[in-house]
Amino acid sequence: MIEVNDNFRLLPVSYLFSEVGRRVADFKAAHPDREVIRMDIGDVTRPLFPCVIKALHEAADELACPESFHGYGPEQGYSFLRDAIARYDYAENGIHIEANDIFVSDGAKSDLGNLGDILSRKCKVAVMNPAYPVYVDDNVIDGRAGELIENHWSNLVYLECDPENNFLPSLPDEKVDVIYLCFPNNPTGVAIKKEQLKLWVDYALANGSLIIYDSAYESFVRDTDTVKSIYEIPGAEKVAIEVRSYSKTAGFTGLRCGYTVVPHTLKGLYANGAEVELNTLWNRRQTTKFNGASYVAQKGAAALYTEEGRASIRENSDYYLKNAAIILKTFKEIGFKAFGGENSPYVWVSAGDGSDSWSLFNRFLQDFGFSTTPGSGFGSKGEGYVRLTGFNSRENTVKAMERLKEAYKG
Ligand code: MLT
Repeated sequence: MIEVNDNFRLLPVSYLFSEVGRRVADFKAAHPDREVIRMDIGDVTRPLFPCVIKALHEAADELACPESFHGYGPEQGYSFLRDAIARYDYAENGIHIEANDIFVSDGAKSDLGNLGDILSRKCKVAVMNPAYPVYVDDNVIDGRAGELIENHWSNLVYLECDPENNFLPSLPDEKVDVIYLCFPNNPTGVAIKKEQLKLWVDYALANGSLIIYDSAYESFVRDTDTVKSIYEIPGAEKVAIEVRSYSKTAGFTGLRCGYTVVPHTLKGLYANGAEVELNTLWNRRQTTKFNGASYVAQKGAAALYTEEGRASIRENSDYYLKNAAIILKTFKEIGFKAFGGENSPYVWVSAGDGSDSWSLFNRFLQDFGFSTTPGSGFGSKGEGYVRLTGFNSRENTVKAMERLKEAYKG
């Protein structure tokens, strides 16, 4: 038999959100009469915007005629979308990003995993603790994580986040090569201010490190001193890759489209000491292993850059932010510790009574009929927390919170 990638043996048996989904499905099967409100995975519930739907229909019609049919597209994305991203997401915010720094993809998760292909297996990797589990699992699969000893991967550097540091970790006290940062943060819902992110960019500039900046939740940022793009920080174009997604911004979790920015100014070294642009490597990787996001999805994404599309993004994220605010307020009122939920769709909750994450998950599911994501699935520092999302409907969010309030009143 074939020898397989042994790193899979080291991984937890199932991916966090698959495990949560399985447990919710088991509960529903055992209690068919109970309504379960999903507040676990960050999947959106509102439909695509009318301007996107129109663009999708038009794109489908184009594909129906020989004159306007599109086969393989550019692996990096169509220029109509790359140009719109460079202009509206960056230039209009005073950031210079070239269209050819931008690689359109089928979403942030794939790119976050695939970026490991262009990095040496020897890179020392730092992750926030807690963190979106994809960063750790990808590095386990790639062989950079070492062994799991007492809930910690031996070769990873953990950037510990807790209420004492407002979930904003300190700089590592050793030299690391790759740092995964995500703001507004998944799972804690905490956003970062410019002067705080500048410390990380300066660290990376001083140490020759690469920051992989997951900016999937930037459309929820409302405070003006809070970062949407790492390229707002001077020098970041020399040290950072930014990964973005239309999933939460515009309801593309099913349609699939996102992009990754790899500026030409970002350089790396081959083992022989020769310098190379990371853009060159990522382009080579993508042209080899990816045939581009679908034409239809890219047409849908381009519609987001119209006046109507941009207004819809604002209205849509305001809606989910309001849900997050309701969740945050409710948990605080009933005496739980609750964080995030401002500039972010995620609320990070602890009972503060020593309950562990899976007990809280079970309590909310069984007693109140809503699902959460156990914080321990995001790392050891997540133990004792659960994450809730504002991505359900207003009606369901209010219903779930009313059930809680009812039980905790008096
Ligand atoms: C989450 O719930 O953390 C995300 O929705 C998962 C994902 O984007 O893959």
